[in-house]
Amino acid sequence: MTNKESVPLLDPRRANGKLQAELRAAFQRVLEGGQFILGNEVETFERECARYLGVEHAIGVSSGTDALLVAMMALGIGRGDEVICPTFTFFATAGTIWRTGATPVFVDSRPRCFNCDPKDVERKLTSRTRAIIPVHLFGQCAEMNAINDIARAKGVPVIEDAAQAIGAEYQGRKAGGLGTLGCFSFFPSKNLGGFGDAGLVTTHDGELAKRVRALRVHGGQQMYEHPEVGGNFRIDAMQAALLGVKLPHVEGYARARQANAARYNELFIAAGVAKVACDGEPCAANCADGTQKPASAPLSLPAVCQSNHVFNQYVVRVHGAGRRDELLNVLRKQNIGCAVYYPKPLHQQPCFASLTSGAFPVAELLAEECLALPIFGELTSDELQRVVDCITGFFA
Ligand SMILES: Cc1ncc(COP(=O)(O)O)c(C=O)c1O
Repeated sequence: MTNKESVPLLDPRRANGKLQAELRAAFQRVLEGGQFILGNEVETFERECARYLGVEHAIGVSSGTDALLVAMMALGIGRGDEVICPTFTFFATAGTIWRTGATPVFVDSRPRCFNCDPKDVERKLTSRTRAIIPVHLFGQCAEMNAINDIARAKGVPVIEDAAQAIGAEYQGRKAGGLGTLGCFSFFPSKNLGGFGDAGLVTTHDGELAKRVRALRVHGGQQMYEHPEVGGNFRIDAMQAALLGVKLPHVEGYARARQANAARYNELFIAAGVAKVACDGEPCAANCADGTQKPASAPLSLPAVCQSNHVFNQYVVRVHGAGRRDELLNVLRKQNIGCAVYYPKPLHQQPCFASLTSGAFPVAELLAEECLALPIFGELTSDELQRVVDCITGFFA
């Protein structure tokens, strides 16, 4: 926070502060226990994550990026393979594909839920496709039935990039248990925010879990025996212990975010500046053609197509050429935290210039229009109102 008046995009100190006594006790326990790498703290955290997420196996790793990398390594993905992922996502989704030696094959997104378009996934499948990575963007699950159907028909595994979606549900089942493997991030801005970098891989498949565990420690099932090459993808015991304190609160964090999202929606709609495209209706019925209906308001609010959307980000679309950036500048001048996720789709990144490109009209439009507003659970109603006043003032 830069001054008293500012509204932060995120302030992890507020949630952590409420748990200070328990966090200090966990820190003290690890400090005194002297086991800093893997061990009991990690095993306990993994068991609790598996139970919460409804999966057989949860394996703590060093980051969300490493979760994706090790998941693909466990599937034996490498040179000559293709992996499908959205172009409108965080860089790590495709960066890790590249690092295995495989080729990222990008798909376009849907305009209202921001998640990847299953029709484009189907179009991009080839005989070289070795995995599909849907991203549960901003905390809402991708259209998993359609994606799993496409994958199953071709015998291709699905890796959920659930980095932003711990606790999100799809037809009553939690993200991370909806595909072959699930990957989570505990980066401090995530709903379950850690104290540094950490991540998690989930799966129902015992053999894959065993491979991930081995790859996490340089590919060795036992000390100094390496049937294959892995890496150091371990989670710290300290991270696991501290995250274990926050895990029981993750549902509460999501509820607070949902309440903030509902309040934003209510205030923006009451002010006549926004509309929600298809709240509560199934995504497929509304976004199947992937086209954009003309906006009747300058702002589109995030569509809730799947329950439970956990709002890691509350992302609005600001319609009209250049209008998003104008609003962004006004918000920043008033010390209101906001961010653009993501200003450049991955097919436009210089490092992927050699990849055969396609047409990604929705992703390119989203990159011009999307704006994330403060949504963290401890945001006060005064702060939320300031954000709304600033935005409604901009459109007045
Ligand atoms: C969609 C997505 N995938 C992967 C990652 C990578 O996670 P980490 O930062 O923990 O490496 C992130 C984190 O920001 C993300 O948002």
